[in-house]
Amino acid sequence: MTGPTPVPTAPQRSRANARYTPVDADGPLPHHMVAAVPRIRADPLAFLASVHERWGDLVAFPMPRLPVVLVTSPTAARRILVDNHRGWSKRTAQYGALSAVTGSGLLTSEGEVWRERRRAAQPAFHPGGLSAVAEQSVAAAQRMRAAWPQGGGVVDVDAGGLQATLEVVGRTLFGADVAEDGERLVAAVLEALEVVVGRVRTPLPLWLPTPARRRLRRAVAALDASAGAVVARRRAQGADGDDGDLLALLLRAVDSGDLAPEGLRDELVTMVIAGHETVASALTWTLHLLSREQEAQGRVAEELDAVLGGGDARGGRPPTWDDLRSLPRTRAAVEESLRLFPPAWVLSRRAVAEDVLDGVAVPAGTTAIVSPWLLHRRPELFPDPEAYRPERFEEGGLGREARAAYVPFGAGPRLCIGRDFALVEATLVLAELLRGASVHPAPGERVRVEALVTMRPRDGLRLEVRPR
Ligand code: HEM
Repeated sequence: MTGPTPVPTAPQRSRANARYTPVDADGPLPHHMVAAVPRIRADPLAFLASVHERWGDLVAFPMPRLPVVLVTSPTAARRILVDNHRGWSKRTAQYGALSAVTGSGLLTSEGEVWRERRRAAQPAFHPGGLSAVAEQSVAAAQRMRAAWPQGGGVVDVDAGGLQATLEVVGRTLFGADVAEDGERLVAAVLEALEVVVGRVRTPLPLWLPTPARRRLRRAVAALDASAGAVVARRRAQGADGDDGDLLALLLRAVDSGDLAPEGLRDELVTMVIAGHETVASALTWTLHLLSREQEAQGRVAEELDAVLGGGDARGGRPPTWDDLRSLPRTRAAVEESLRLFPPAWVLSRRAVAEDVLDGVAVPAGTTAIVSPWLLHRRPELFPDPEAYRPERFEEGGLGREARAAYVPFGAGPRLCIGRDFALVEATLVLAELLRGASVHPAPGERVRVEALVTMRPRDGLRLEVRPR
């Protein structure tokens, strides 16, 4: 007689946390969590690492009714993001908070709405369109370097990077013609985001809601007004016919009825949020790591000298789109930095129905926290995991298993739409900055990581820059 296939579960054993979670995996008890609150607030990454170290690859937090698990095994992460992606939605507290700002933009929407929006936006990220990104990235890097002291000195590369990446996103996605309204839009986005971050300081299972509703409503109203101004100006200029930027594409989608007008606002806001701080963070951490690892920086400098002839003072030239394929070391410096400091340090999903992760059944409604930060530090996949070694990504690159576990841009259908955009941008900004300068730790600078929406240095990052 055949019956339904039994759901495989881990061998039943008595778990100390059995009363506090239906998931058959070890994990902290309520008193551990209470004791950990200050640590979660101060250093969520260290908390994650300690939880993983103590309880293993699948950790069940003590949440009996709405289970939460930390996922650190590559197989379970793949199951959630790729193989059974339909079984895991983005209806999580993390994305719920974000959607207060982004509405149903690409990052936070689901199902048919998401599919339509992805289809509408995809052409703007086509490799052909990325040459504009290349051009704007180099121009932004030149402005950033122009602000550096001529003879060398200490600069906040984080502040410079934030400004540069903002310019690139604004100009390539919305066009330079709306730059001024675009800047107001960005300011409004950042204000609203700050309120949201205040509400969900950490995506770890200790939500700390502070009802800043009124401030959020105000910020969202300002956001709506500036998004409206960006659209109105472009409409007034009648430039939506043949411009290839995202704004033009989305306006055409609205005109043809493929996108509801409110969808336009949501996507503009989403792109600012998803495409600004993430790339700035990647750049900042790459510069930080290169400043500490002079040998790795030397290899990048060698490549830049060979391809571009070095800085202007040595008769060199700025990089272009066509140089990208000749800059594998520069790109690898970024990719290895995204391994150690993935800006999106956790990805959250919610089980639509019961699922099985590495042999352990998790009920419908379970929130899974997939941590690229921990996945990228698995020693069997990334030997000497804490070491910054861009060579891992050069030539043959990562092996098959390590590649599957390397997820700074996510994986599966919800893979970052801006991945190539980001890699082109970060590689060329880095190339333009480092062809004429070297970076070194600033005397007395203490770098502290702050993991909020993205992983960033708290209070900026000062480095010493020297012309070379
Ligand atoms: C180094 C820079 C970047 C990193 C590390 C990054 C990371 C990610 C990750 C991890 C996801 C998936 C989230 C999840 O599965 O829960 C994602 C999605 C997304 N990213 Fe990025 N991103 C970067 C740059 C960009 C840029 C430059 C843009 C746009 C200009 C962008 C736009 C988006 C959008 C719209 C989504 C949602 C895609 C969808 O669900 O269809 N990102 N990003």
